[in-house]
Amino acid sequence: MANTILVGAQWGDEGKGKIIDVLTEQADIVVRTQGGNNAGHTVFIGPQKYVLHLIPSGILRPNKTCVIGNGVVVDPVSLRSEIEGLLKLNINVNGNLLLSETAHVVFPYHRELDGQREARKGKNKIGTTKRGIGPAYGDKAARTGLRVIDLIHATRFESALRQRIEENNEVLKAFGAAPLEFGPIHEAYSAAGEFLKPFVLNTVTYLHEAVQRKANILFEGAQGTFLDIDHGTYPFVTSSNTTSGGACTGSGVPPNRMDRVVGVMKAYTTRVGEGPLPTEHAEISDMLHGMGREFGSTTGRARRCGWFDSVATRHATMVNGIDEFAVTNLDGLDSLASIKVCTGYKCGDRTLDHIPNDIEDFARCEAVYRDFPGWQTPTEAITKWSDMPAKAKEYLHAITDLSGAKLTIASVGPAREQTIFL
Ligand code: GDP
Ligand code: IMO
Ligand code: MG
Repeated sequence: MANTILVGAQWGDEGKGKIIDVLTEQADIVVRTQGGNNAGHTVFIGPQKYVLHLIPSGILRPNKTCVIGNGVVVDPVSLRSEIEGLLKLNINVNGNLLLSETAHVVFPYHRELDGQREARKGKNKIGTTKRGIGPAYGDKAARTGLRVIDLIHATRFESALRQRIEENNEVLKAFGAAPLEFGPIHEAYSAAGEFLKPFVLNTVTYLHEAVQRKANILFEGAQGTFLDIDHGTYPFVTSSNTTSGGACTGSGVPPNRMDRVVGVMKAYTTRVGEGPLPTEHAEISDMLHGMGREFGSTTGRARRCGWFDSVATRHATMVNGIDEFAVTNLDGLDSLASIKVCTGYKCGDRTLDHIPNDIEDFARCEAVYRDFPGWQTPTEAITKWSDMPAKAKEYLHAITDLSGAKLTIASVGPAREQTIFL
């Protein structure tokens, strides 16, 4: 396998975790490059369900090295408990999990500020995961953040943390929120820092050496294209670059060492959190929720659901340079007699074939649909493309053609075996 960047082509939760796990078989190294524990990547191995938040989904296969890159924001207490959770399930992390020295650290004041800002926004809230992601990236950009290398340096950490808590308490007071106490935070973070020390490394030089020896590297994106801080539906986005460029800045591996970009998308659309979603539809939402599907893996919130939006995914192909698509959750549409696909937007008297930058314009966009006949056959047991119903093949080819890249993987269930390679 060549060096591969995997991105979500929609609003997150496309099934990246499952596809990463599948592609890891051919990889030597899997790298997370952005986001934090706002992500929830689900992998099933047999009946066992794993939900990864900070650790790359590649960790579930033996003898693969997993790297948490410099572009990730790390809550060390949460990372520690994720590692301990895996150890309890007999998943080895010792020697094969690496944490970048320069990843920024998420603190309780980031979470508190995230919650306070959301509360202040009232009905205009973003619907964040309240994991402190926005304020942590804000500190990074403002050059007031602390990094993993500071966390594991006991004396430096103590004075820097004290100063940051004092400063952030002033902000919290202005919000009318209770100030935070230094002692318990220092204790918990120092203990987490000690625990994480053996994993900490200069991951940029590590990855550079891996590139030199021609290791196969898989870059695991978190969130999705339309949650990207630059290319998403701002301000209803997350605070990192979720698009393919983020894999370079978030790992230190340069663009000319990347070989291909795989976009993961569902056969329909989902979004968790606020913001416009032109193809949102009660029929598909009720159907999927009725099947017990589409509840968030991080916050448990019901995901908003809609028809497949090829205007959005075509835009995703453009900004990510997607070469190939993995389409997941095809089986979710098995029972439908007719399936809608959005091929354009009507915005007032204009017809658009792209996502407008003005969020108010975007909120006014109405989807223009093309109907496809449903296959009305269960697909979950299919393992070969030749066994796929003709109408399902037609649908998969139509949505990937409309999205502007070729179809290479179709997924018909959460398990590894429910994966069809073309
Ligand atoms: P991620 O954040 O992109 O990794 O996606 P999530 O794990 O948050 O959400 C995707 C959900 O879809 C998870 O529950 C997966 O187990 C599930 N999933 C992935 N691919 C398929 C598929 O092809 N069919 C079905 N039924 N479930 C799938
Ligand atoms: P994975 O990696 C879906 C959404 C939140 C909210 C917005 C900002 O599992 O696909 P944040 O907490 O990041 O400041 O929230 O982004 N969001 C996600 N939605 N999947 C995710 O990750 C998400 N991570 C953040 O719901 O709308
Ligand atoms: Mg998810």
